[in-house]
Amino acid sequence: MSTDVSTPAYQKTSDLNNWRHFAQMGSATEKPPKVIVKGEGCYLIDSEGNRYLDGLSNLFCVNLGYSYGEELGEAALAQYKELGYHSNWGSTHPRAVELASVVAELAPGDLNHVFLTPSGGESVEAAWKIARKYYKLRGENRWKAISRQTAYHGTTLGALSLIGIPEYRADFEPLVPTGGKIRNTRRVGRPVGETEEQFTAFLLDELEFRIQAEGPDTVAMILMEPVQNHGGMLVPPAGYSKGVREIADKYGILLVADETITAFGRVGAWFGAERYEMDPDIITCAKGLSSAHAVIGAVIVGEKVYEPFTVAGASLLHGNTFGGHPVMAAVALKNIEIMKRLDLPATVLANEALFRAKLDTLADLPVVADIRGCGYFFAVELTQATASGRALTDAQKLRLYGDALLAQPLEDRGVMLRISIDAGDPVVCVSPPLVAGDAELTHLTDALHAVLTEVSTVYADL
Ligand SMILES: Cc1ncc(COP(=O)(O)O)c(C=O)c1O
Repeated sequence: MSTDVSTPAYQKTSDLNNWRHFAQMGSATEKPPKVIVKGEGCYLIDSEGNRYLDGLSNLFCVNLGYSYGEELGEAALAQYKELGYHSNWGSTHPRAVELASVVAELAPGDLNHVFLTPSGGESVEAAWKIARKYYKLRGENRWKAISRQTAYHGTTLGALSLIGIPEYRADFEPLVPTGGKIRNTRRVGRPVGETEEQFTAFLLDELEFRIQAEGPDTVAMILMEPVQNHGGMLVPPAGYSKGVREIADKYGILLVADETITAFGRVGAWFGAERYEMDPDIITCAKGLSSAHAVIGAVIVGEKVYEPFTVAGASLLHGNTFGGHPVMAAVALKNIEIMKRLDLPATVLANEALFRAKLDTLADLPVVADIRGCGYFFAVELTQATASGRALTDAQKLRLYGDALLAQPLEDRGVMLRISIDAGDPVVCVSPPLVAGDAELTHLTDALHAVLTEVSTVYADL
């Protein structure tokens, strides 16, 4: 706590023992990682005193931003004084009971049984096991899960198997057998003049074909985000979510909404499934549940899924030490209390048009291919073709969209954003804390406009 983190020497040695996630540790000698020492509102401050607007809510998770530490900390302290730990297994504790009740109240439809977990990936993992066991209890042996291309669902071996990003899976194969990946809702390579309804019908046909090819009586669940993050904020086309629900019903398959990102206000509703009328049997969530100020996630199921588990002798042989930890639950409860007080999901929905209008000022820039999303969950897709229509080479993409022309100049303008090229298409993810108002949204979009204008100049010379 007393280390002077402001020295370059500290920064240089910060990786001595600390193995960062998804990081190329060997590159740290050239460019040591930033050390972030403080958060304020929507801003992060590094060890050298630089301030950055957090345009990604860290990992799409700090929905409340960084200014509620005192209230959240008081909730944690009170809980530590009362009961620092108890499991949520054979017995329970008041904060797990209260949090389950609060989450059930907010969840759409009849989803009212809450299984607390320590993360989004473990929520997905638990959901798949719940689905498998659900069918076993009903005397069926269904085990496969169908998910979508380019989707991200976590890194445990089960969740990883459901990821639709081959590069993330490759190093760890062989993985858990699944029911395959279907197309996401990104509209590429489709016939000119195809209507949205025709596109929806095409996607639903593919889903049904996949189920039939796998054998319907082997498929336990279909897993999808209401709005898919990886691939660039893929809002479902008209009729898609309802159509998926109908197909799931037709074949008796459970529909699981992975709301690790979309729940708790991100898309302008408490749950994305509610806004996009997905009507899932199971919801998985995590990040926004505590605004990432605590290590906690949840799986929420309705009566249909829960009922077989209530038969005498039935149980879900799944759990872990930290799922539903009392201090984490206390922080999540306080987070939801503050979100309610600020009316955050409704505020995000009300601000959506304003945010969209600011982002639309980028639309005419030559390097901008598309802008899509909803709530505070947008993607600015960057072009992959030269002005004359030739495909950009990987080297050209790296030059245009790499750190030197994009991330660094944004940081120089005090904005931190993620430029994602790992799902194939270069996308700037724009997803600030839900407490961002006009000033922050303007800072974000002005910086993007200035930097993408510069990138467009280089692009014009290719
Ligand atoms: C949709 C989705 N599911 C699951 C996960 C995994 O969550 P965690 O990192 O908490 O395991 C993520 C993480 O970004 C996610 O975006």
